[in-house]
Amino acid sequence: MNHLTRRQFLEAALALGATAAIATPRGRKSTSRWQERRDLYPEGVASGDPEHDSVLLWTRRPFPAGTHGQLTVEVAQDPGFQDVIASTRARVQAAADWTCRVLVGGLQPSREYWYRFSDEHGHGSRIGRTLTAPAEDDARPVRFTFISCQNVNQGSQHAYRRMIFEDERAVPAERLDFVLHLGDFIYEIVWYPPDRPQGMYDRRLRDIVRYAHGEKIEDFHIPTTLDDYRAVYRAYLHDPDIQDARARWPFVNMWDNHEYSWLGWQGLQDFEGSSRPAQTRKVAANQTWFEYQPARIRKPSGPGLERFDGPKVADAPITRFDADGFGQEPNNVAAVQSLTGYRSMRFGRNVELIITDQHSYRSHEPTSRPEARPLSSPDFPELIPQEAVEILDGGREYAGGHPPDTIRFGQTDVPNFCRDEPVQTILGRTQKAWFLEQLRNSRATWKVWGNTEGTLDFRADPHNLPPGLTQPWPGAGYAGFGGGDYGSAYRERAEIYDFIRDQGITGFATVAGDRHSFWAGLAAKELPPRPFEPVGIAFVTGSISAPGILEALEHRLPKDHPLRALYLTDGTDPKPAPAVNMLLLHGVRSCLEYQRTRDAGQARRLSNPDLSPHLSFLDLGGHGYATVRASADAFETEFVCIPRPVERIDRPDGGPLLYRVVHRAQLWRKGERPRLEQKVLEGNPQLSL
Ligand SMILES: [Fe+2]
Repeated sequence: MNHLTRRQFLEAALALGATAAIATPRGRKSTSRWQERRDLYPEGVASGDPEHDSVLLWTRRPFPAGTHGQLTVEVAQDPGFQDVIASTRARVQAAADWTCRVLVGGLQPSREYWYRFSDEHGHGSRIGRTLTAPAEDDARPVRFTFISCQNVNQGSQHAYRRMIFEDERAVPAERLDFVLHLGDFIYEIVWYPPDRPQGMYDRRLRDIVRYAHGEKIEDFHIPTTLDDYRAVYRAYLHDPDIQDARARWPFVNMWDNHEYSWLGWQGLQDFEGSSRPAQTRKVAANQTWFEYQPARIRKPSGPGLERFDGPKVADAPITRFDADGFGQEPNNVAAVQSLTGYRSMRFGRNVELIITDQHSYRSHEPTSRPEARPLSSPDFPELIPQEAVEILDGGREYAGGHPPDTIRFGQTDVPNFCRDEPVQTILGRTQKAWFLEQLRNSRATWKVWGNTEGTLDFRADPHNLPPGLTQPWPGAGYAGFGGGDYGSAYRERAEIYDFIRDQGITGFATVAGDRHSFWAGLAAKELPPRPFEPVGIAFVTGSISAPGILEALEHRLPKDHPLRALYLTDGTDPKPAPAVNMLLLHGVRSCLEYQRTRDAGQARRLSNPDLSPHLSFLDLGGHGYATVRASADAFETEFVCIPRPVERIDRPDGGPLLYRVVHRAQLWRKGERPRLEQKVLEGNPQLSL
């Protein structure tokens, strides 16, 4: 073992809660009696967090209650297991819901391996394939895909089929090294079909899980216990496309909000207009994540080999918050600390992947609070004045510590409910300090911020509407489009981007999920009329399947809304055209011109150049995945967009594509401005340019 001693390796495995196996230099033919019995391993196999010499392997094999089982795992250099280089035994038990983690070390960098599990009778799992990371001095390009937001309750996951199909046909050097899953691996909010016979937007609801202890809120159900969270993961892993993808590549996973709670933050949940303590659910969500996602996360509960052993917590009221808005209540602290997910990973000379947690440490998000409701109006769907969001974001430090008591919205003065609160933070103090240190110390060509949430501004220019169409815009200027992520966490984003500028860090790229839409652009803290000074490049991937805002607008926006043309253009097609893409890319004048002429080129001639100089591409209706190729001189991101995945397409290629578009950034030098070049490779992205 070159970098770690055998003892260090075993300690590392122990700290992760994994059983360890060490590869031997010389392989031998398998001696196990493995016979595939997929029915006994209903959630398949997986691997995760590859390093240059080790990777985590995973399966689930339930045994009868009251017993426990022993599995043998074999790792081979060939799919026929003639050349087995590592093998060990691992115990599975009910306390971990029969899940099993094995860390295999002593592997070679940039190698393909196959693995499988079998029980005492030789009943075996399916065979998985995995890959190790390139060695730190390996200058070859790194290839990965980043994805998010798969909703098995409301759609089909066949984007994975397309990904598998293309990877199998690629030459070995162009195959994916890993899959970065940026969260919403599950949706904890589940609609049972009888509760909503009309379905969800364009979707039929699938009967995937019924929670044994769930809570019903409005017309949906949420998990309340460990058993409930486990049940939803199992339901998701029974999806054939998800399962095949997990068996083909190592995944690097990070949770977003839905792994715990839709509007969850720290150990709280926001429902029906208030925040309520939910520390027991946060621990249950963390335990289930630990059990079902093989990852090198820190489990302060101790070096348990096989189980989570989380803290015992109670749902105690959280009333005292520190200077960063973090709840000091001991059960909240313990629940959040029960799993630490932020981490960084190195892939060869070219990629440092720095992954952060956007929910466990964040302060209370202002724009989704009920007090923010008077700052928007149905006359201007989704829009909220940018200056209002800036005031809320700045809390007590706004305007040099002199925040206003009220915020003007048209003729109304809305109380500034954040005037005595801390500046909004998403990362929290400790994680942010860690993150900035990772950025500063990385020697990789590309410092890739794996951020589950989008970083690019959502912005529109309703102040440019011609008079007479509707009410006057109640804001002072530009409008934000919703809020809740880094597109509206102005101060913290500026702190990070200023650090990048001041440290002279080049090759900064963010890859994100959560927005259920494709975005490509430049990472900048501010937009005109303030100075526009990008410090990096930024991308967001469309959802694998969860519905996006465009689909919601198609169903929610009244046909006779005076501003309908800013969002949807009705025509001869059954579906309206997504004018909302043009609204955010080019502004209201372009949308009105498009409504009049149906000529996108002519409409773009009326583009507001100050609106979105940070954006190259936007599709609020896109689904699919994004692939990255990061080399010594360029970072290329390709969006692979499929039609709305309403029903499963059971074809080897995963069905048709809508478009494929690539954005390429040449590595810039210190002091140079990053730039994106766009190329449409296939199909027509229409209003996304
Ligand atoms: Fe999502």
